[in-house]
Amino acid sequence: MKKISEVLNAASINLERQFVKEKNCERCGRKRNVYRVRLLGGPKKGQWMTLEEPCDCTLSRQAAALIQKKRPQYYWSQSTINDSLEEATLENFFPENDTQDRAVKKAAEFIKKVVHHQQPRMILYGSPGVGKSHLAVAMSKVLMNRFNKACLFLEKTALKQKVRSTWSRESKLTESEIMRLISKADLVILDDLGAEGMTSWTRELLFSLLNARLSKSLVVTTNMSISEMDQAYGAKIMDRLLENMSKQDLLLMEADYSHRLKHLMEDDPKGKGIDPLF
Ligand SMILES: Nc1ncnc2c1ncn2[C@@H]1O[C@H](COP(=O)(O)OP(=O)(O)OP(=O)(O)O)[C@@H](O)[C@H]1O
Ligand SMILES: [Mg+2]
Ligand SMILES: [Zn+2]
Repeated sequence: MKKISEVLNAASINLERQFVKEKNCERCGRKRNVYRVRLLGGPKKGQWMTLEEPCDCTLSRQAAALIQKKRPQYYWSQSTINDSLEEATLENFFPENDTQDRAVKKAAEFIKKVVHHQQPRMILYGSPGVGKSHLAVAMSKVLMNRFNKACLFLEKTALKQKVRSTWSRESKLTESEIMRLISKADLVILDDLGAEGMTSWTRELLFSLLNARLSKSLVVTTNMSISEMDQAYGAKIMDRLLENMSKQDLLLMEADYSHRLKHLMEDDPKGKGIDPLF
């Protein structure tokens, strides 16, 4: 068997390095060694080369940078997005009236504020199928893809299922990890907040989520009006939901019909809506 020194020598690497000096790291000031090694092969054979020991701080910075780069993907992978919204972007959102125009402008302002760490918050409310969730997904994609921001999109019913699934022994995800993500994300979207299926547990879950997002960016989409939410949730939850919001942050989105039913409307020769007997 070949000695390790023979293998290294064969690869033109000289194990015999000469200590030159100690040098302080430019970043953290810690001492590290500088060596000289002689090249055994290649075009520079016989020449001396100076090698500085890499400092631990560089290695940890590189690791931190890598984690930072992967962070948005991780948050997105933990999001609960309906398949029908997978392709939703700002480019394929077509405003059809003033309320939708205004929502797009607000969305652009909102994105800027998240980028500048201003922790914006808003509620998109209105009837089904008018593009609230589409717009929220589209905003997250811009923040994620262009600004490397970690966005967590949580559809309310799917969130409940996700939390319940952590109770199983086989689950790798824990409830506290979900709460950590909610608290640390650059933006959380709480999608489709509704009044149905409210139990004391869901109320508590909503309360913890809103508590974890106090003074942090938040988008909520809902079919309920603010007064309906007030009735359904009560003062403690509403207080946390509306924290740091002004009237301009409560955006009503309207349409003559649901986008999900658009194909039926287009097939309707009189254009007067869907036949009630359909
Ligand atoms: N203005 C629009 N331009 C393009 N696609 C739209 C527009 N509005 C809605 N859609 C599409 O219609 C479907 C329903 O939209 P979306 O899920 O955003 O509705 P919503 O307002 O969140 O409804 P709900 O209150 O029921 O959750 C989606 O597939 C979405 O991509
Ligand atoms: Mg929706
Ligand atoms: Zn260092």
